Amino acid sequence: MLEVIDIQAGYGKTRILHRVSFSVPDGGLTAVLGGNGSGKSTTLKTICGLLRPDSGQIVLAGERIDQLPAHAMAAHGLVLVPQGKEVFAEMSVEENILMGGYHRRRERAALKHDLHEVYELFPRLVQRRRAPAGLLSGGERQMLALGRALLARPRMLLLDEPSAALSPKVVGEISDMIHELRERGLTILLVEQNVSLALELADDIHVLREGRVALSCRNGPDVDMASLQEFYLGAS
Ligand SMILES: Nc1ncnc2c1ncn2[C@@H]1O[C@H](COP(=O)(O)OP(=O)(O)OP(=O)(O)O)[C@@H](O)[C@H]1O
Ligand SMILES: [Mg+2]
Repeated sequence: MLEVIDIQAGYGKTRILHRVSFSVPDGGLTAVLGGNGSGKSTTLKTICGLLRPDSGQIVLAGERIDQLPAHAMAAHGLVLVPQGKEVFAEMSVEENILMGGYHRRRERAALKHDLHEVYELFPRLVQRRRAPAGLLSGGERQMLALGRALLARPRMLLLDEPSAALSPKVVGEISDMIHELRERGLTILLVEQNVSLALELADDIHVLREGRVALSCRNGPDVDMASLQEFYLGAS
Protein backbone atom coordinates (compact mmCIF):
# COMPACT_ATOMS: atom_id res chain seq x y z
CA MET A 1 0.00 0.00 0.00
CA LEU A 2 1.16 3.48 -0.88
CA GLU A 3 -0.12 6.26 1.34
CA VAL A 4 0.00 9.91 0.41
CA ILE A 5 -0.63 11.78 3.64
CA ASP A 6 -1.37 15.50 3.84
CA ILE A 7 1.13 16.44 1.15
CA GLN A 8 1.90 20.08 0.43
CA ALA A 9 4.28 20.74 -2.43
CA GLY A 10 5.04 23.22 -5.18
CA TYR A 11 7.71 25.04 -7.13
CA GLY A 12 9.68 27.75 -5.35
CA LYS A 13 7.23 29.86 -3.38
CA THR A 14 4.24 28.70 -5.42
CA ARG A 15 2.30 26.07 -3.57
CA ILE A 16 0.49 23.68 -5.93
CA LEU A 17 -0.62 20.77 -3.73
CA HIS A 18 -2.66 21.52 -0.63
CA ARG A 19 -3.01 18.76 1.96
CA VAL A 20 -3.38 16.01 -0.62
CA SER A 21 -4.19 12.61 0.88
CA PHE A 22 -5.16 9.32 -0.73
CA SER A 23 -3.95 5.75 -0.76
CA VAL A 24 -3.15 3.17 -3.41
CA PRO A 25 -3.96 -0.35 -2.21
CA ASP A 26 -1.76 -3.24 -3.38
CA GLY A 27 -2.89 -5.04 -6.50
CA GLY A 28 -5.53 -2.44 -7.32
CA LEU A 29 -5.89 0.40 -9.73
CA THR A 30 -6.35 3.85 -8.27
CA ALA A 31 -7.18 6.78 -10.53
CA VAL A 32 -6.54 10.47 -9.93
CA LEU A 33 -8.65 12.63 -12.22
CA GLY A 34 -8.29 16.32 -12.82
CA GLY A 35 -8.19 19.01 -15.48
CA ASN A 36 -5.17 20.83 -16.90
CA GLY A 37 -3.02 22.30 -14.18
CA SER A 38 -4.91 20.65 -11.30
CA GLY A 39 -1.67 19.15 -9.93
CA LYS A 40 -1.74 15.59 -11.25
CA SER A 41 1.84 15.48 -12.57
CA THR A 42 3.04 17.39 -9.51
CA THR A 43 1.49 14.67 -7.35
CA LEU A 44 3.29 11.92 -9.27
CA LYS A 45 6.60 13.83 -9.21
CA THR A 46 6.28 14.19 -5.45
CA ILE A 47 5.54 10.49 -4.97
CA CYS A 48 8.52 9.39 -7.00
CA GLY A 49 11.00 11.76 -5.37
CA LEU A 50 11.50 14.24 -8.23
CA LEU A 51 9.94 16.92 -6.06
CA ARG A 52 10.38 17.14 -2.29
CA PRO A 53 7.16 17.91 -0.40
CA ASP A 54 7.13 20.94 1.92
CA SER A 55 5.19 18.87 4.44
CA GLY A 56 3.29 15.62 4.72
CA GLN A 57 4.41 12.05 4.27
CA ILE A 58 4.61 9.42 1.59
CA VAL A 59 4.59 5.91 2.99
CA LEU A 60 5.18 2.74 1.01
CA ALA A 61 4.54 -0.60 2.73
CA GLY A 62 4.82 1.11 6.11
CA GLU A 63 8.10 2.87 5.31
CA ARG A 64 8.48 6.60 4.72
CA ILE A 65 9.91 7.32 1.28
CA ASP A 66 9.41 11.08 0.99
CA GLN A 67 13.02 11.92 1.80
CA LEU A 68 14.53 9.43 -0.62
CA PRO A 69 16.11 10.54 -3.91
CA ALA A 70 14.31 9.67 -7.17
CA HIS A 71 16.96 7.12 -8.17
CA ALA A 72 16.16 5.03 -5.09
CA MET A 73 12.55 4.54 -6.15
CA ALA A 74 13.08 1.74 -8.68
CA ALA A 75 14.64 -0.32 -5.89
CA HIS A 76 11.38 0.17 -3.98
CA GLY A 77 9.48 -1.02 -7.04
CA LEU A 78 8.00 2.36 -7.98
CA VAL A 79 8.31 3.28 -11.65
CA LEU A 80 6.96 6.42 -13.31
CA VAL A 81 5.77 6.47 -16.91
CA PRO A 82 5.93 10.23 -17.53
CA GLN A 83 3.51 12.35 -19.49
CA GLY A 84 4.35 13.06 -23.13
CA LYS A 85 5.32 9.64 -24.48
CA GLU A 86 8.91 10.69 -24.91
CA VAL A 87 11.27 8.31 -26.66
CA PHE A 88 14.89 8.40 -27.78
CA ALA A 89 13.96 9.10 -31.39
CA GLU A 90 17.16 7.93 -33.09
CA MET A 91 17.51 4.74 -31.11
CA SER A 92 15.64 1.60 -32.14
CA VAL A 93 12.45 0.51 -30.44
CA GLU A 94 14.28 -2.38 -28.79
CA GLU A 95 17.11 -0.17 -27.52
CA ASN A 96 14.50 2.16 -26.06
CA ILE A 97 12.76 -0.67 -24.23
CA LEU A 98 16.07 -1.99 -22.90
CA MET A 99 16.90 1.44 -21.45
CA GLY A 100 14.29 0.65 -18.78
CA GLY A 101 16.49 -2.19 -17.56
CA TYR A 102 19.78 -0.32 -17.74
CA HIS A 103 20.45 -0.62 -14.01
CA ARG A 104 20.10 -4.42 -14.31
CA ARG A 105 22.09 -4.73 -17.55
CA ARG A 106 24.22 -7.54 -16.13
CA GLU A 107 21.19 -9.77 -15.65
CA ARG A 108 21.23 -10.77 -19.29
CA ALA A 109 18.98 -13.84 -19.17
CA ALA A 110 16.37 -12.11 -17.00
CA LEU A 111 16.34 -9.07 -19.28
CA LYS A 112 15.88 -11.25 -22.33
CA HIS A 113 12.95 -12.93 -20.61
CA ASP A 114 11.38 -9.59 -19.68
CA LEU A 115 11.88 -8.22 -23.20
CA HIS A 116 10.10 -11.28 -24.56
CA GLU A 117 7.20 -10.59 -22.17
CA VAL A 118 6.99 -6.99 -23.33
CA TYR A 119 6.74 -8.18 -26.95
CA GLU A 120 4.04 -10.64 -25.94
CA LEU A 121 2.07 -7.88 -24.32
CA PHE A 122 2.65 -5.38 -27.15
CA PRO A 123 2.84 -7.40 -30.40
CA ARG A 124 2.84 -4.19 -32.43
CA LEU A 125 6.30 -3.42 -31.11
CA VAL A 126 7.75 -6.70 -32.39
CA GLN A 127 7.43 -5.73 -36.05
CA ARG A 128 9.00 -2.38 -35.31
CA ARG A 129 11.78 -3.52 -33.00
CA ARG A 130 14.59 -2.40 -35.30
CA ALA A 131 12.91 0.83 -36.44
CA PRO A 132 13.95 4.17 -34.96
CA ALA A 133 11.52 4.98 -32.15
CA GLY A 134 10.98 8.44 -33.67
CA LEU A 135 8.90 6.80 -36.41
CA LEU A 136 6.34 5.32 -34.02
CA SER A 137 2.74 6.52 -33.80
CA GLY A 138 1.46 8.05 -30.57
CA GLY A 139 -0.15 4.78 -29.47
CA GLU A 140 3.00 2.80 -30.20
CA ARG A 141 5.08 5.31 -28.24
CA GLN A 142 2.81 4.84 -25.26
CA MET A 143 3.25 1.08 -25.57
CA LEU A 144 7.00 1.57 -25.75
CA ALA A 145 6.92 3.77 -22.64
CA LEU A 146 4.97 1.07 -20.78
CA GLY A 147 7.30 -1.66 -22.04
CA ARG A 148 10.35 0.34 -20.96
CA ALA A 149 8.86 0.73 -17.47
CA LEU A 150 8.26 -3.03 -17.23
CA LEU A 151 11.95 -3.72 -17.80
CA ALA A 152 12.58 -2.19 -14.38
CA ARG A 153 10.40 -4.95 -12.84
CA PRO A 154 8.07 -2.56 -11.02
CA ARG A 155 5.67 -3.45 -8.23
CA MET A 156 3.80 -0.22 -8.78
CA LEU A 157 3.41 1.79 -11.98
CA LEU A 158 2.65 5.49 -11.91
CA LEU A 159 1.04 6.34 -15.25
CA ASP A 160 0.78 10.01 -16.22
CA GLU A 161 -2.03 10.52 -18.76
CA PRO A 162 -1.43 7.49 -20.98
CA SER A 163 -4.54 8.29 -23.06
CA ALA A 164 -3.58 11.89 -23.93
CA ALA A 165 -3.63 12.79 -27.64
CA LEU A 166 -4.67 9.29 -28.77
CA SER A 167 -7.67 8.29 -30.87
CA PRO A 168 -10.56 6.52 -29.09
CA LYS A 169 -9.59 3.23 -30.77
CA VAL A 170 -6.00 3.43 -29.53
CA VAL A 171 -7.17 4.51 -26.07
CA GLY A 172 -9.21 1.27 -26.06
CA GLU A 173 -6.05 -0.75 -26.81
CA ILE A 174 -4.04 1.03 -24.12
CA SER A 175 -6.89 0.48 -21.68
CA ASP A 176 -6.84 -3.28 -22.38
CA MET A 177 -3.09 -3.32 -21.81
CA ILE A 178 -3.34 -1.48 -18.50
CA HIS A 179 -6.05 -3.94 -17.49
CA GLU A 180 -3.75 -6.83 -18.39
CA LEU A 181 -0.86 -5.38 -16.35
CA ARG A 182 -3.13 -5.12 -13.36
CA GLU A 183 -4.27 -8.74 -13.88
CA ARG A 184 -0.61 -9.70 -13.73
CA GLY A 185 -0.46 -8.33 -10.22
CA LEU A 186 0.93 -4.85 -10.72
CA THR A 187 -0.41 -2.05 -8.57
CA ILE A 188 -1.29 0.96 -10.69
CA LEU A 189 -1.73 4.65 -9.98
CA LEU A 190 -3.30 6.18 -13.07
CA VAL A 191 -3.46 9.93 -13.51
CA GLU A 192 -5.91 11.07 -16.19
CA GLN A 193 -8.19 13.70 -17.64
CA ASN A 194 -10.19 10.93 -19.32
CA VAL A 195 -13.13 10.24 -17.02
CA SER A 196 -14.48 7.25 -18.94
CA LEU A 197 -11.08 5.52 -18.85
CA ALA A 198 -10.97 5.94 -15.07
CA LEU A 199 -14.52 4.60 -14.74
CA GLU A 200 -13.56 1.62 -16.86
CA LEU A 201 -10.38 0.70 -15.00
CA ALA A 202 -10.30 2.06 -11.48
CA ASP A 203 -11.25 0.59 -8.12
CA ASP A 204 -10.98 3.96 -6.43
CA ILE A 205 -11.18 7.44 -7.89
CA HIS A 206 -9.88 10.73 -6.49
CA VAL A 207 -10.61 14.04 -8.18
CA LEU A 208 -8.03 16.80 -7.92
CA ARG A 209 -9.09 20.40 -8.31
CA GLU A 210 -6.68 23.29 -7.89
CA GLY A 211 -4.28 21.05 -6.00
CA ARG A 212 -6.86 19.72 -3.56
CA VAL A 213 -8.66 16.40 -3.41
CA ALA A 214 -12.23 17.49 -4.17
CA LEU A 215 -13.75 14.01 -4.13
CA SER A 216 -12.69 10.48 -3.21
CA CYS A 217 -14.91 7.52 -3.97
CA ARG A 218 -14.96 3.81 -4.65
CA ASN A 219 -15.83 3.10 -8.28
CA GLY A 220 -19.19 1.35 -8.67
CA PRO A 221 -22.60 1.47 -10.29
CA ASP A 222 -23.63 4.66 -8.49
CA VAL A 223 -20.57 6.59 -9.71
CA ASP A 224 -21.20 8.15 -13.07
CA MET A 225 -19.66 10.53 -15.52
CA ALA A 226 -21.93 13.41 -14.56
CA SER A 227 -21.23 13.30 -10.83
CA LEU A 228 -17.48 13.07 -11.43
CA GLN A 229 -17.46 15.85 -13.97
CA GLU A 230 -19.24 18.12 -11.55
CA PHE A 231 -16.23 17.90 -9.23
CA TYR A 232 -13.70 17.71 -12.00
CA LEU A 233 -14.85 20.88 -13.72
CA GLY A 234 -15.43 22.73 -10.49
CA ALA A 235 -19.14 23.12 -11.15
CA SER A 236 -20.23 22.03 -7.68
N1 LIG B 1 8.39 23.03 -13.11
C1 LIG B 1 7.41 23.88 -12.76
N2 LIG B 1 7.68 25.12 -12.29
C2 LIG B 1 6.71 25.97 -11.92
N3 LIG B 1 5.38 25.68 -11.98
C3 LIG B 1 5.04 24.48 -12.46
C4 LIG B 1 6.03 23.52 -12.88
N4 LIG B 1 5.38 22.40 -13.29
C5 LIG B 1 4.06 22.66 -13.14
N5 LIG B 1 3.85 23.90 -12.64
C6 LIG B 1 2.55 24.49 -12.33
O1 LIG B 1 1.90 23.67 -11.36
C7 LIG B 1 0.51 23.58 -11.62
C8 LIG B 1 0.11 22.13 -11.71
O2 LIG B 1 0.80 21.54 -12.79
P1 LIG B 1 0.76 19.99 -13.10
O3 LIG B 1 1.73 19.76 -14.19
O4 LIG B 1 0.91 19.22 -11.85
O5 LIG B 1 -0.74 19.83 -13.62
P2 LIG B 1 -1.44 18.60 -14.32
O6 LIG B 1 -2.68 18.32 -13.53
O7 LIG B 1 -0.49 17.50 -14.51
O8 LIG B 1 -1.88 19.22 -15.73
P3 LIG B 1 -1.93 18.54 -17.20
O9 LIG B 1 -3.18 17.75 -17.25
O10 LIG B 1 -1.98 19.74 -18.10
O11 LIG B 1 -0.70 17.72 -17.38
C9 LIG B 1 0.25 24.38 -12.90
O12 LIG B 1 -0.22 25.64 -12.54
C10 LIG B 1 1.62 24.48 -13.52
O13 LIG B 1 1.74 25.66 -14.27
MG1 LIG C 1 0.34 16.62 -16.11
